[in-house]
Order: sequence, then C-alpha cells, then structure tokens
Amino acid sequence: ALLDGGKKPLAGRTAIVTSGPTHEPIDPVRYIANRSSGRQGHAIAAALARLGAKVTLVSGPVTLPDPSGVTVVEVERADDMLQAVLAALPADIAVMVAAVADWRVATPNAEKIKKQPGEGPPPLMLTENPDILKTVGHHAKRPKVVVGFAAETQDVESNGRVKLQKKGADLIVANDVSPETGIMGGTRNSVKLITAAGIEEWPELSKEEVAGRLADWIAEKLT
Ligand code: CTP
Ligand code: CA
Repeated sequence: ALLDGGKKPLAGRTAIVTSGPTHEPIDPVRYIANRSSGRQGHAIAAALARLGAKVTLVSGPVTLPDPSGVTVVEVERADDMLQAVLAALPADIAVMVAAVADWRVATPNAEKIKKQPGEGPPPLMLTENPDILKTVGHHAKRPKVVVGFAAETQDVESNGRVKLQKKGADLIVANDVSPETGIMGGTRNSVKLITAAGIEEWPELSKEEVAGRLADWIAEKLT
C-alpha cells in the first residue's frame, strides 16, 4: 500500500511542462519577454508529479522555487526551450504553459548597444520564434495528451478554438488576461477548457486548484 495513502493514477507516465517567460536577448544586458510569473506552469508540474508522473519542467527565468519531485531544466530563449522539450521526448503528456516570446531579435548585439546622441533609438529587426506547442502537437513522437494555454484579451473562445486546431492540441486552457481581470501575475485564474467536444467553463480558482483539476483531467484522459 502507498504510505501517503494517495492514489497515483499517473504512475509510470512521463510529462513535459513548459513554464515562465522566455527572454530573447537584444544585447548582453537587454531582452524582449512576455509577462509571466510561472506560477500556473509550476503548479501544473507539481500536480502531475503528485499524481505519480515523472515530470520534466522546462522553465524560462522565474523567481519561484523548483517544485518538489520534478526535474527542472532552466532555459532563457525560445530556441533553447524547444531544444529542451524535444530532448525530453518521448513522453505521455505535454502541457505547454510558457509565455513564449513570439519574436526574437534577428541578430542580438555581442556588445552592449550604446545610446548614440543625435541618432535616435536603434532599429530592432525581429524574427519569429519557433512554436513549441505546435511542433510537439504535430511531432512524430507526439505525446498522447497535448495541452496548450491561450492567453487572450478578447474573443477568448473563438481564438482558443483556432489555437486548438492549428497547434494539434487535445485541450486549450483559455484565459482572459485583460488588465481589468487582474489575472496576469496574480495567484488566481479563471479558465475555459476548449476541446473538440466543446467548451467547459471553470469557476475562478487558485492556480493550484486549476493545476489539480487539470492533472485529474489528464489522468482521466489517459485511462
Ligand atoms: N506557444 C509555444 N511557442 C510559441 C508560442 C506559443 O509553445 N512560440 C504555446 C504557449 O505555451 C501556449 C500556446 O502556444 O500554450 C498559445 O500561446 P499564445 O501566445 O496564446 O498563442 P500564439 O500562438 O503565440 O498566438 P498569439 O500570441 O498571436 O495570440
Ligand atoms: Ca504568443
């Protein structure tokens, strides 16, 4: 019998979770990033581990402690996050929670860019980052359960449905990150679950509660 008395429906399963922002260098001292505390992604990694999964958490720069019982791979750039995720395949479960920067500076400066009096700000040439969720969702070693998030400020449901389709995910967890919701950077979350079967709305919950319910949803999907 298990000493902690808990049930471990994900025992023997492997999971990859991405969390936090990515930092895309402009030069050695500056970067482009999305807002992300990493709280939701880290809580999901912890919740999957509690259900018995062997979890690799690929995390961008965050100030959170490593969740217990989870292997953490720290990365900075989207390119590095993608490589770390691919290196962790095959896996049964992928939950891509990271707020990946959509663009990076095409050629980061090796030296700190200095202000040039009279010349104005330097132009930044951007290039698109790889889509990690989409890559995993269409991969030859695609995990059995692929979950993505969708941070939206408008048209949450229709944008979420498009992402479900385009990215090859089984589930998109969509949340409204309009400034007035106060979700961004906070400890609570209000999400809609979008699957091919339809939409389910969860009440406002703590990010830990969202993580726990999501881990249960994943466990059920695998049985
Ligand atoms: N995602 C990813 N790699 C990227 C961009 C996004 O893995 N380069 C993942 C996120 O982790 C999330 C999902 O895709 O699970 C949706 O991210 P989001 O930023 O909402 O969607 P985008 O496809 O980037 O579209 P947009 O930002 O234009 O709304
Ligand atoms: Ca994006």
